[in-house]
Amino acid sequence: HGCQMNEHDSEKITWLLEKMGYSFVNEIDEADFIILNTCSVRHSAEDKVYGQLGNLKNLKSKKKNIKIAVCGCMMQRDESRNYVIEKFPNVDTMDIEENALSIDDKLGANRLYNFKSYVNIMYGCNNFCSYCIVPYTRGRETSRRPGEIIREIEDLAKHGTKEVTLLGQNVNSYGKTLDEKFSFANLLEEINDIKGIERIRFMTSHPKDISDELIYSFKNLDKLCNFLHLPVQAGSSRVLKMMNRKYTREDYLRKIDKVKSLNPNIALSTDIMVGFPGESEEDFLDTLDLVKKVEYDTAFTFIYSVRENTPAANRTDQVPDKVKHDRFERLLDVLYPIQERKNKAFIGKDVDVLVEDISKKNESKVSGRTDEFKLVNFKGDKNDVGNIVKVRIKDANSFSLVGEIES
Ligand code: 5AD
Ligand code: SF4
Repeated sequence: HGCQMNEHDSEKITWLLEKMGYSFVNEIDEADFIILNTCSVRHSAEDKVYGQLGNLKNLKSKKKNIKIAVCGCMMQRDESRNYVIEKFPNVDTMDIEENALSIDDKLGANRLYNFKSYVNIMYGCNNFCSYCIVPYTRGRETSRRPGEIIREIEDLAKHGTKEVTLLGQNVNSYGKTLDEKFSFANLLEEINDIKGIERIRFMTSHPKDISDELIYSFKNLDKLCNFLHLPVQAGSSRVLKMMNRKYTREDYLRKIDKVKSLNPNIALSTDIMVGFPGESEEDFLDTLDLVKKVEYDTAFTFIYSVRENTPAANRTDQVPDKVKHDRFERLLDVLYPIQERKNKAFIGKDVDVLVEDISKKNESKVSGRTDEFKLVNFKGDKNDVGNIVKVRIKDANSFSLVGEIES
């Protein structure tokens, strides 16, 4: 149900279950064991889990032997746990971590793709943004040791991984909890030397910690993809302060300028939230203005969702739902034309695409990602999956590109 780290945890859980003799089924009715790996970042993610647990009541009454388990971030919160205990007696097992890290990285993982893999480099978060539940569910920030990460990636490369995505809530502060002095940029340099790895991505970074050293890595490391996801959350310094983000609008724009001046073709992505408590119309207009200035290639957009026991939840100046939804629509109206313009700029260009999937509807259609993380659809066949191919871009809209393999 959640972020890339949660997805990667699911890959490890399925690996463990296969070792125990289980196999994966596509239809939930056929399952003997059902495990929901939950997320609590927004209310809607929790509601989906409650909805599924509700539906499973029927299944369990028909099929008494099935086991239902719930794990992930929701289980680290008393409120959600108590609600599950009270409302869903059909749940057999809950996974509660005293010191909520991730699943042990020494375990294998049943990876969805063998040519692109997620690798955790750190866990937890120390930032305590005032709206966010993550520091409470995932615990304090801890970095994995570089040697351990390098060994895992070398092993993945030997087994066919071409693209690796490094995961952490705030990868820019990688290394702070290590005994040795070793930065995120140092880690990227070492990964850049691993034979077989052709692309390196990372998620997610905090603007306050993005270093010059990292900005230069985009220029100096040939395998580091031309794509930076830098969550801004809001374009008003007043709101950023209330969010406890520890940077101003000007700081953010200065960092973006630096990134762009060193890497003019870099694709930029972000997370933006509307309707944080106390956000005025003027604050929101600052967000729209920042979006126009930065010109994001893509963005994850969110409506502020109250998370119990976070500082922002107790504020008395919550923005009414109607205003939040209205701002959300207006934000998309500004974002989409920018995305479309940036995608259309690719028309006529030849790009390298790592082919990821065959279309479910038409087996002669495939899709994949460019270095800039642009989704490209084109005519190909299943043998292309897992390869990097040259594609000429013919058309584009706000969300994807259409290409053709030049023969
Ligand atoms: N409400 C809405 N969006 C949230 N996010 C985190 N907490 C909340 C919340 N309470 C968003 C942020 C973050 C992304 C992963 O989810 O934008 O960067
Ligand atoms: Fe949440 Fe802020 Fe940490 Fe991101 S940096 S996980 S938004 S507290």
